[in-house]
Amino acid sequence: MKYTDKMLREGALKGKNIVVTGGGSGLGKSMTRYFLELGAKVAITSRNLEKLKNTAKELEDETGSTCLPLQCDVRHYDQVEEMKNQVIEAFGTVDVLLNNAAGNFISPTERLSANAFDTIIDIVLKGTKNCTLAFGKHWIDTQYKNTTVLNIVTTYAWTGSAYVVPSATAKAGVLAMTRSLAVEWAKYGMRFNAIAPGPFPTKGAWDRLVPGDLAEKLDFSKRVPLSRTGEHQELANLAAYLVSDFSAYVNGEVITIDGGEWIKGAGQFNLLEQVPEEMWDQLEAMIRAKKNK
Ligand code: COA
Repeated sequence: MKYTDKMLREGALKGKNIVVTGGGSGLGKSMTRYFLELGAKVAITSRNLEKLKNTAKELEDETGSTCLPLQCDVRHYDQVEEMKNQVIEAFGTVDVLLNNAAGNFISPTERLSANAFDTIIDIVLKGTKNCTLAFGKHWIDTQYKNTTVLNIVTTYAWTGSAYVVPSATAKAGVLAMTRSLAVEWAKYGMRFNAIAPGPFPTKGAWDRLVPGDLAEKLDFSKRVPLSRTGEHQELANLAAYLVSDFSAYVNGEVITIDGGEWIKGAGQFNLLEQVPEEMWDQLEAMIRAKKNK
């Protein structure tokens, strides 16, 4: 078995209707593809309808399942409501909301205009809030149960990170929302979980986060204890599990999938991995010698 193999059994998402925001490209597209392969119907949303239509056609041809492209800027509540109404009209019900749409770019914070900061907060935090509120209220009003909201956050949602401060601020808010509503809305039959991915290369994110030859200079795979970046199928496997009924008892959880990247930065002595093997004999001798003094 390989780690890029598909994890869930055939038909594991049959009967599930799923909305994936930002589903037209990148990780959203990869997760959508796998949901369709597992038998779900998926509505994908973004600002760019042409791109969505192309993706929907490509994925329908590939998987034989239904993929509905819907234009929606998650920053605007009226557009989210409209999108929700269109999905309900097409699918009848919605079982899963995957808040995947995001915006981010690297910048020293002092270079950001107030509008630049707002733009990221609006897409990430307000967008997630808009979709969660629209679908959550709908599920409550119709007493439709066994629903799931899955939010994509990031490992710096709890550590913070320099140079992506609006994103860190917004993702921290999304994480707080995930955990809060996991408790408050469990009584309505909703589950809330989050995934915190480490480096999973996609064109959209890489162009904005490691532009030019920065990717080579920073070499993300060197930051990861497992010495590699993530494969999209690995993330799709985890997402499919979390939106499936196999995870019915998982609620309020954030699952990190980063090869150990963030914890490597946290452990005080983790940098000792740079010490060559042969030096450990000397170091051990020096430490043991202290005992007799
Ligand atoms: N550095 C500093 N400021 C920047 C910037 C950069 N690299 N890129 C955009 N901005 C500023 C703009 O100047 C503008 O502020 P201003 O009006 O004060 O000048 C503000 O951010 C909004 O930019 P704009 O291009 O008008 O917004 P948009 O809604 O069209 O695009 C972005 C939103 C900037 C987040 C764009 O990168 C995007 O669409 N991203 C979506 C996909 C994505 O980010 N994927 C990666 C996820 S990890």
